[in-house]
Amino acid sequence: MKIKSIILENYRNYKNLELIFDDSRNIIIGENAQGKTNLIEAIYLTAFAKSFRTNNTADLVMFGEQSGRVSTDIISEDIDKNINIIIRSDGKKMIKKDGKVIRKTTELLNNIVVIIFSPDDLRIIKDSPERRRAFINRELSQIRPGYYESFRKYNDALKQKNAILKGYFNLKKKTFTRADNLSLNDISPYDNSRQYNEEMLDVFDKQLADYGYEILRYRKEFVDMLSTEASEIMAKISGGKEKLVIEYKTACDFITGTEGREILYKQFYHNREKDIYNGYATLGPHRDDIEFYINGKDAKKYGSQGQQRTIALSLKFAEIRIAKQILDEAPILLLDDVLSELDLERQRFLISEIDDVQLFITSAELNDEVIKDLRGGTLFRIEEGTVTRVDKY
Ligand SMILES: Nc1ncnc2c1ncn2[C@@H]1O[C@H](COP(=O)(O)OP(=O)(O)OP(=O)(O)O)[C@@H](O)[C@H]1O
Ligand SMILES: [Mg+2]
Repeated sequence: MKIKSIILENYRNYKNLELIFDDSRNIIIGENAQGKTNLIEAIYLTAFAKSFRTNNTADLVMFGEQSGRVSTDIISEDIDKNINIIIRSDGKKMIKKDGKVIRKTTELLNNIVVIIFSPDDLRIIKDSPERRRAFINRELSQIRPGYYESFRKYNDALKQKNAILKGYFNLKKKTFTRADNLSLNDISPYDNSRQYNEEMLDVFDKQLADYGYEILRYRKEFVDMLSTEASEIMAKISGGKEKLVIEYKTACDFITGTEGREILYKQFYHNREKDIYNGYATLGPHRDDIEFYINGKDAKKYGSQGQQRTIALSLKFAEIRIAKQILDEAPILLLDDVLSELDLERQRFLISEIDDVQLFITSAELNDEVIKDLRGGTLFRIEEGTVTRVDKY
């Protein structure tokens, strides 16, 4: 899988840019605020139909313009494809694949699989559970098309369930003091719609159990694979001293097989009073987390900053390997400004371990030793949204 070329029009600080990329290594050098991340973001947009920096499409359109465009020629599964994304300052966007409009994000997601590594990712161990869930969601959406659909439907059901629970919660605030532990029965005299709500909660809990089951199944499989691959890489970086184990953490009773969904539903049902008390759905994969252990110790609590960074680095390599196994094709790796955050030894490890993956690296400057390790590729220099291609080095 490769990106052959890109055209940017009125995208962020690029008025008009056309670049042909190297098949293996693309090194993008520039001072701060020149447009390095903007270029990486445009590639990311081609893969995910959204940015990793903003949820607002309008931000991507060059200041003062009505619309912008990112058009990318790619090759995946030995087929040439074009992805053309029009973004508008009213926040709307239109995506075309080979000239035909794509309506569902799933149709875009597995055309080009991109793994991004930015300074934020280095903090994944210390960050909030939400960030770690976002990491799994992002990766699985690309490599398991079924995942994205289940995830989307789960979230729809969750939103509706939470709206009902919030209704109860507000009623409780009006009627009871804070210390009261409110149950459905307590509410009944004040709420004529109790039976209706109860039925709706059943409907949503059934949907949450069905889609939640799929989500849990995919996530557990993925985290098991991550653990195997990342621990191998971690052992390599640490000279065998550090044994990494990654675990998926959930309060859900999960078993695979035909009863799996029913068991989840029952658990959601039994958790209902607690949900009502809190005013939101307190149980489900939307509350889960991943945990990292080094030599048996929780890396979030006890790991040094260096160890945590090494885990993050191992995770990225593991992702690449898993994507390769599942897709039978190498993904594309975007390294935005991450080298400067790693020591020279880890930088060199990173570069030397990546061989058959098309790589995009941005940096303010590159160490000479790292340049030597890169063995070929194309160097681009960016200055205020203008890119000059420096010859092969
Ligand atoms: N919608 C937009 N229209 C025009 N310019 C924009 C828009 N959004 C961002 N910019 C400009 O793009 C520049 C930032 O680009 P970018 O984030 O790619 O920088 P960078 O080269 O990655 O810098 P750093 O090394 O600091 O990360 C800023 O000058 C910013 O004002
Ligand atoms: Mg940047």
